[in-house]
Amino acid sequence: MKPGDLDLCDIANYNDGVPLEYLDMLRREDPVHWHPETDGKGFWAITKHADLVHISKHPKLFSSWLGGTNLPDRPEEDLAGMRAMLLNMDPPQHVKYRRLVQRGFTPRMVKELEPRIRQEARGVVDRVATKGECDFVQDLASELPLILICELMGVPVEDRHKIFDWSNKLIGFDDPEFQHSASDGKAAAMELWMYANAIAQQKKANPDDTLISKLINGSVDGEQLTEMEFNNFAVLLSVAGNETTRTVTTHGMRLLCEHPDQRDKLVQNLDRLLPTAVEEFVRYNPPVIHFRRTATEDTEIRGQRISAGDKVVMFYPAANRDEEVFENPTQFDVARDPNPHVGFGIGEHYCLGANLARMTLECIFREILTRIPDIQLAGPVKRLRGNFVDGIKEMRVSFTPET
Ligand code: HEM
Repeated sequence: MKPGDLDLCDIANYNDGVPLEYLDMLRREDPVHWHPETDGKGFWAITKHADLVHISKHPKLFSSWLGGTNLPDRPEEDLAGMRAMLLNMDPPQHVKYRRLVQRGFTPRMVKELEPRIRQEARGVVDRVATKGECDFVQDLASELPLILICELMGVPVEDRHKIFDWSNKLIGFDDPEFQHSASDGKAAAMELWMYANAIAQQKKANPDDTLISKLINGSVDGEQLTEMEFNNFAVLLSVAGNETTRTVTTHGMRLLCEHPDQRDKLVQNLDRLLPTAVEEFVRYNPPVIHFRRTATEDTEIRGQRISAGDKVVMFYPAANRDEEVFENPTQFDVARDPNPHVGFGIGEHYCLGANLARMTLECIFREILTRIPDIQLAGPVKRLRGNFVDGIKEMRVSFTPET
């Protein structure tokens, strides 16, 4: 295989998972690779860890705002809406907005949430532990991230399934099971947006100590979130926080099943190795396959000329397997330390929910690995169609039921 042999935009090339061998080859042979597109002007495919870091840390040179952060070029009318989201902003607007919302995600806030997350994790495992088998995605991986997003947003329990459906439609744009057309995705975003708006109104009228209430009613240096900014943030949270953590939970379990030696080591040293194992799940199988930037002026990456307006696409799974940074990168090692992976991004847009995601993953794995530790795959996994999130839709598992 040589550079140019595989179309990274063709989702058929992701049917069996991310084409890692091809990305590994690109990283070694053509790390700043020009990739033509059938329905676009082409892009630079970035596969080296150092280049991903450089691009992510220079947001003025590599914009998230100009062309958004998704690979496909969007029409200007779509971009206008997307640019209202934190993910697609540039400094100085990004800095200001992020300061307003990050109050909800400080290590202290996450620590305060821990007992609640632990309790919910226990509840999730309670519901399946005596059954002896289940669909891991639906029954074990989906629940906790969803509960948390709803908790953060102040969504009542009876409405949780709405958030679940909307976020599936928003993220599964290439999967016919979740979304039948692009307009389905837009409709879901609109419904979620309006739903968030209704909650915000309610919290404005009756402030309480939920995150949503603090975000909507509080201010930083006299600045307050507008309703519009808040609604957009709610849409981003539902997408960014749900599918990602669900995917890492599922792949993490799959990896442990496929590497019994690593799983035994983890089960026997749970307290010590759980934090490093969680980092390794995110390194080995990052849920987000790529994010895009657009060059704002002529520049160079690794000596390659990049012109203003060029599209630059960073491949996270490739950067996380860079042999210049990781020893034996293809080896899944639950004790890997240090582990400077970029699965949560880096720099300006570093994942706002990273601490929350880590805590969520630790809580659910602690429950699973102490209560149903012999959990095994009971059939092939069913993958989400697409080349943006490396998702799994169904993963049947079996285990000795808890008595
Ligand atoms: C294991 C789970 C997760 C992974 C791997 C992940 C990954 C990422 C990545 C790679 C970015 C960087 C985007 C960029 O550079 O353009 C990002 C940003 C973001 N993530 Fe996460 N994420 C996870 C969980 C969460 C959770 C649980 C939340 C919220 C509850 C969240 C909220 C966000 C937000 C709001 C941003 C945008 C930050 C900004 O633009 O400043 N993520 N995430």
